[in-house]
Amino acid sequence: MNQDDLKKAVAQAAVDYIAPRLTRHSIVGVGTGSTANHFIDLLAKHRDDFQGAVASSEATAQRLQQHGIEVFDLNSVADLEFYVDGADETNAYLELIKGGGAALTREKIVAAVAKTFICIADESKQVDVLGAFPLPVEVIPMARSHVGREIVKLGGDPVYRDGVRTDNGNLIIDIHNMSISNPAELETKLNQIVGVVTNGLFAHRPADILLLGTQDGVKTITR
Ligand code: 5RP
Repeated sequence: MNQDDLKKAVAQAAVDYIAPRLTRHSIVGVGTGSTANHFIDLLAKHRDDFQGAVASSEATAQRLQQHGIEVFDLNSVADLEFYVDGADETNAYLELIKGGGAALTREKIVAAVAKTFICIADESKQVDVLGAFPLPVEVIPMARSHVGREIVKLGGDPVYRDGVRTDNGNLIIDIHNMSISNPAELETKLNQIVGVVTNGLFAHRPADILLLGTQDGVKTITR
């Protein structure tokens, strides 16, 4: 199976996991990216079995609506049983790097509200130590240089993601060459830099369940 087949397999596994647990009142949190897109396409077959979704990006909202799935503002939703999303890296503790698609802030907000965060990823995303994938940081535009200098002090190489604006109107700085031995500590330190909206480490709120696509089938890993 190629990487896209593995992404489809984990997307199907996530649908198989949540479908029997949905009620007509359920609202599902949906992530962003190619794996999440497969999930949306497969979830669409069940669209009459639940109320709707909360989207972690404009692109995801559009795809959900194209399938006839109603998209709700998170502020109007009291309960979110599941959040399903991909990742750029995961370690053994289901701590993640996310934000390759620049949607990290909304992804983190929806994950914070959801009772169960199901991460869907192919096996290329599994690492021993986070940080080979450049860590995205969402930054208020006027703080770009300041945040870059502070990242250097923390030992990283900041690279401005040219031409990218987030759905929130902000910039992305990717941190290269940082081996992340303590993800929770770095997540906190980065978020304390003035001008940072948030960063792509999901350590304080890791995934609860990882559905990992491998050549031997989908593995279910829990914390
Ligand atoms: C978007 C993300 C994605 O979940 C992450 O980039 C993985 O993407 P894909 O499923 O396309 O490999 O965090 O901001």
